[in-house]
Amino acid sequence: METTSFLKALEWRYATKRMNGNGIPEEKLNSILEAIKLAPSSLGFTPYSILVIKDKATREKLLPHCYKQPQIVEGSAVVVFAAWTNFNEGQVDKYMADIAAKRNVTVDSLSGFASNVKGKINNSSIENLLIWAEKQVYIALGFGLTAAAIEGVDSTPMEGFVPAGVDEVLGLKEKGLTSVCLLALGYRDEEKDFLSKAPKVRRANEELFIHI
Ligand SMILES: Cc1cc2nc3c(=O)[nH]c(=O)nc-3n(C[C@H](O)[C@H](O)[C@H](O)COP(=O)(O)O)c2cc1C
Repeated sequence: METTSFLKALEWRYATKRMNGNGIPEEKLNSILEAIKLAPSSLGFTPYSILVIKDKATREKLLPHCYKQPQIVEGSAVVVFAAWTNFNEGQVDKYMADIAAKRNVTVDSLSGFASNVKGKINNSSIENLLIWAEKQVYIALGFGLTAAAIEGVDSTPMEGFVPAGVDEVLGLKEKGLTSVCLLALGYRDEEKDFLSKAPKVRRANEELFIHI
């Protein structure tokens, strides 16, 4: 994709308020999920899980916990970005085994790196680990938003929800997870959405960028 078409896709996208209920083709959804998977994370540790909710009944249950924002049910999927709430050395060992298998190296050769990652999780408070995990989640959200735009799929990044309610509906606590942000995916309803033709509002280049 050329730079210009990339930027056109980013101009085209907007945080869609009303969607028309049309379904996203499976391959487009898969591309968006693949982009989310390809997001970088600190140490590559990926301390989060991604729930993909296509089931309408489940999205109906989420609706009251999302301040009844219609995109939750008018879209065709809601992606829930959930941070880990538990950290342990077993997760690091699993990660090292994955690297060793993918890159054809021994786990022993990764011992220095393993110590770094274990040091990070052993020497940080759970509060700080959660903040750290949440930061990684937002990068993945950004990749999902961008991929959706490139695929011509509308989306809404969402923080307007009650995490405890969403966690309860999805049983996240039992899974060692907590919801951080959502991405509703679908197609805009141009008639109903007052923002569908609104120009973008961004701070001027000279205010936003500091060139040194
Ligand atoms: C982390 C985050 C949370 C947001 N939460 C909501 C939300 O709950 N509902 C909503 O309609 N828009 C939400 N937005 C959309 C922003 O209001 C929107 O991105 C911003 O006004 C810029 O407009 P644009 O994305 O249409 O260009 C959120 C955006 C971000 C990045």
